[in-house]
Amino acid sequence: MAEIDVNKLQELIDGSSNIVFFGGAGVSTESGIKDFRSVDGLYNQKYDYPPETMLSHTFFVRHKEEFFRFYNDKLLEKTVGTDTVERALPNKAHYKLAELEKAGKLKAVITQNIDGLHQEAGSRVVYELHGSVLRNYCEKCGKSFDVHYMFNSKGIPKCDSCGGDIKPDVVLYEEGLDNNVISGAVNAIKNADMLIIGGTSLVVYPAAGLIDYYRGDKLVLINKDATARDSVADYSIHGKIGEILGQIVVR
Ligand code: APR
Repeated sequence: MAEIDVNKLQELIDGSSNIVFFGGAGVSTESGIKDFRSVDGLYNQKYDYPPETMLSHTFFVRHKEEFFRFYNDKLLEKTVGTDTVERALPNKAHYKLAELEKAGKLKAVITQNIDGLHQEAGSRVVYELHGSVLRNYCEKCGKSFDVHYMFNSKGIPKCDSCGGDIKPDVVLYEEGLDNNVISGAVNAIKNADMLIIGGTSLVVYPAAGLIDYYRGDKLVLINKDATARDSVADYSIHGKIGEILGQIVVR
């Protein structure tokens, strides 16, 4: 794997017309949303239970009230914003990827994030492997609710039509990923002439395994820290992805 600079990244992007981006929580940290495994990430904070336990299906079923306290406090607040907490907005990474798609050079964003910031920046083909906090459904009648309804609910969010519990369209640990999303993401990666991976530790499967479908020789890793899959990259840039992509000229 060769350590490259932004100029080489620019050259690789200029020479590609079927780019796919695969990202994680590190893409949203420059928007003010904490990631999970960085030293100041969500999983390194103190809670009664390990956060990965609290974000599991079992915990959701057995301790629903506690789940929503953690979920609202740690995952929703920044996405919704309050009068004291500024709402997270797309950053330079999100906007550059949307610009590359608009120019016809980037075909898809595949993200593990659930914050909807890629779409807000203008990306249209986005495979959300772990769902989105913006989509919520009554478990009884299927009625959909927006993220504000969830954030403003006290305790367990209840359907205002049938009284059923509302569940976020977010893939919890122990739950499967959506098959259509997986096949869309796999096809995009298989056909890509360049795969840019950024802001992810690549430790959570099956998401991290999807990158093995890439068959080209331009796999670029843009990450602050080393990842679990550094060895599969053809090129690597260590640094802040918003700053790095922000320097790319789309032509
Ligand atoms: N620029 C580049 N890289 C960054 C930045 C940044 N501004 N900020 C953080 N990073 C890197 C960190 O170094 C880390 O390697 O992004 C990575 C984020 O890794 P994680 O916190 O593990 O997040 P992610 O890989 O998305 O986690 C995958 O774990 O808990 C589950 O479902 C959750 O989707 C999540 C999955």
